[in-house]
Amino acid sequence: MVKILKNPEEVGLEAARMLTRQLIHKPNSAVALPTGSTPLKMYKAFVKFTEFEIVELEDVHFFNLDEYVGLTKDDPISYAYYMNVNLFSRIGKVNHDIPRTDAADSEKEALEYEEKIRRAGGFDLCFLGIGIDGHIGFNEPGTSFSSVTHVAKLHSSTIERNSKLIGKVVPKKAITVGIKTIMNSRRIVLMATGIEKSKVMLQFLLGDVTPELPASVLQLHPKVTILLDEEAADKIKSNASEFHLINP
Ligand code: PGA
Repeated sequence: MVKILKNPEEVGLEAARMLTRQLIHKPNSAVALPTGSTPLKMYKAFVKFTEFEIVELEDVHFFNLDEYVGLTKDDPISYAYYMNVNLFSRIGKVNHDIPRTDAADSEKEALEYEEKIRRAGGFDLCFLGIGIDGHIGFNEPGTSFSSVTHVAKLHSSTIERNSKLIGKVVPKKAITVGIKTIMNSRRIVLMATGIEKSKVMLQFLLGDVTPELPASVLQLHPKVTILLDEEAADKIKSNASEFHLINP
């Protein structure tokens, strides 16, 4: 299902509602969380919802989708730091995992992370952003659809964009949950906002299913919700006659 909302705030709000509903329905859910600029609004809205104290957070298990390789623990570039600042320090103690950026052996860390996800029973709900090259997590174009959690080499365009966003050069490698791990989620929510995502949304929703555009694999998942703001939906709306085929 594709939902077109007015602006990034509305996208964040709707994503936070979906997370809250999931945790009311199943308090011991395993939930995968993304980083980047898009989910910030979702975290802000979710923090507000937790203040109503209608969700129990004791039994939830949050997993981050990815983490850079080779930083020191607590480095402000790390996603562990990002998650702490934007969510975890604001909602009290919760069970959350993220690959260790400072692991001595990152390949081994990736395998152990996959095992942790497996032991949690896989993701009940997986939130995703999308890169302008169609990546999900840090699964860059060309990543096998059968990949599980692994060490990924980031594309120069991803490094450039992410470095620009935080004003510091980010590492060239990351540990990312694999595409198969994502596809094993019982439910997936992908968020995209801003005009720079409008082209990739068209390719993703109406193009072929191909590892060259990792997000396209989601066309094969039975329970995906796509939350777009007006700008990210710009190109699919002008292809409305084809669009209705995927949004009956
Ligand atoms: P963004 O990143 O939210 O900063 O656009 C999305 C992604 O790269 O997955």
